[in-house]
Amino acid sequence: MKSMFMVFLFLFAGLTTGQDNGAIKLPEPDTKGGVPLMTALKNRASNRNFDTLSLSVQQVSNLLWAAYGINRPESGKRTAPSAMNWREYTIYLFNKNGVYIYDAQSHTLKKILEGDYRSYCGVQDFVSVAPLNLVYVSDFSKLSRIEDEEMKTMFTSADCGFIAQNVYLYCASEGLAVVVRGMIERDKLHSLLKLKPEQKIILSQTVGYPKK
Ligand SMILES: Cc1cc2nc3c(=O)[nH]c(=O)nc-3n(C[C@H](O)[C@H](O)[C@H](O)COP(=O)(O)O)c2cc1C
Repeated sequence: MKSMFMVFLFLFAGLTTGQDNGAIKLPEPDTKGGVPLMTALKNRASNRNFDTLSLSVQQVSNLLWAAYGINRPESGKRTAPSAMNWREYTIYLFNKNGVYIYDAQSHTLKKILEGDYRSYCGVQDFVSVAPLNLVYVSDFSKLSRIEDEEMKTMFTSADCGFIAQNVYLYCASEGLAVVVRGMIERDKLHSLLKLKPEQKIILSQTVGYPKK
């Protein structure tokens, strides 16, 4: 069992195998696991003390599916609700090897940058220590049927909160450390990711094992 875990860890940490044009097909999420919901809610908390240990590829699959995966394939709808069914978010994943986009349709990670850019995800030291940072980017060009800019911002911010809370609950269930963050140097990160002006970085979230 331990050797299986190590193989998964290697596949995700090294990203040398199982890749197709830079895309990593994630294993099916384990939708039967986890602690009871009320226990996860009891344990939900921010923790900024991270170990450097990587997550397994199965944990990454479960985490991303919990965050924003498709739970109703017939409609393409997600684990998180979205105003007007905009589904306007892209999740970027940063680890020590690169930067990836989570494609929910194919449940795949697509590598967009090679190298360790974790420090771009925030201004706090732990962002470069923890194995994973997620960055939530809202595409304002998808916010149709509302003209009022303030309303758009309110609705899309609420959408981001649901994604982040899904991640909090998954981490509470797995005994992982996690903190959502608004303190981000957005201009620097925006340039790194070559985002369009209408793509706005809303929040980031750091995930890893708690430091013992
Ligand atoms: C929108 C938002 C932005 C936040 N930004 C940061 C941040 O930049 N850095 C940080 O360490 N914590 C950040 N937090 C985490 C809060 O500090 C934390 O949730 C709060 O202290 C309550 O603690 P709890 O999550 O353990 O209940 C943020 C939380 C929210 C909801």
